[in-house]
Amino acid sequence: MSDPTVFQVAYRSTANKPWSPPELNALLGVARENNKALGLTGMLLYADQSFFQVLEGPEAKVRAMVEIIGRDPRHHSLSVVLARFVHVRDLTEWSMGYVEMSLKDLSRIDGLNNFFVDSVDYTRFGKGQAMMLLNAFRNGFWRASAV
Ligand SMILES: Cc1cc2nc3c(=O)[nH]c(=O)nc-3n(C[C@H](O)[C@H](O)[C@H](O)COP(=O)(O)O)c2cc1C
Repeated sequence: MSDPTVFQVAYRSTANKPWSPPELNALLGVARENNKALGLTGMLLYADQSFFQVLEGPEAKVRAMVEIIGRDPRHHSLSVVLARFVHVRDLTEWSMGYVEMSLKDLSRIDGLNNFFVDSVDYTRFGKGQAMMLLNAFRNGFWRASAV
């Protein structure tokens, strides 16, 4: 197996206000263009003013992007829950995939079955949940959920 040179970061944050679909789309447009140029892949989840994002690629590029995103005034309380080197990217298909996950979708993921009860709030996600989610996507979950 090759050296684990892919750096992967997952964080959660809180939006400063509810985001509309056009606002999310505009953000995704910018993110996709920049990430493609930087060799970054990843995914973004949004629910009820909470964000959860995974970014992967060369370490320096990932760290620099997390810095930029952390300074974005449209959200706050960014907290990195996972930072690790992996051999293979989990999200090769996406410069920035946007995934809308309902409670029902999330309940189908091993290890997350009963994590959320009434509503989805990614500020509750920690390392364990990030790893379960990535595991599900690695095993093809995205095929049913990607937008
Ligand atoms: C939750 C969230 C996730 C973001 N993700 C990315 C991203 O993956 N890539 C990116 O280039 N910008 C992302 N941004 C936007 C950056 O904070 C910043 O506005 C953007 O990189 C500036 O790009 P520009 O210099 O091309 O205008 C994100 C912002 C937020 C609030």
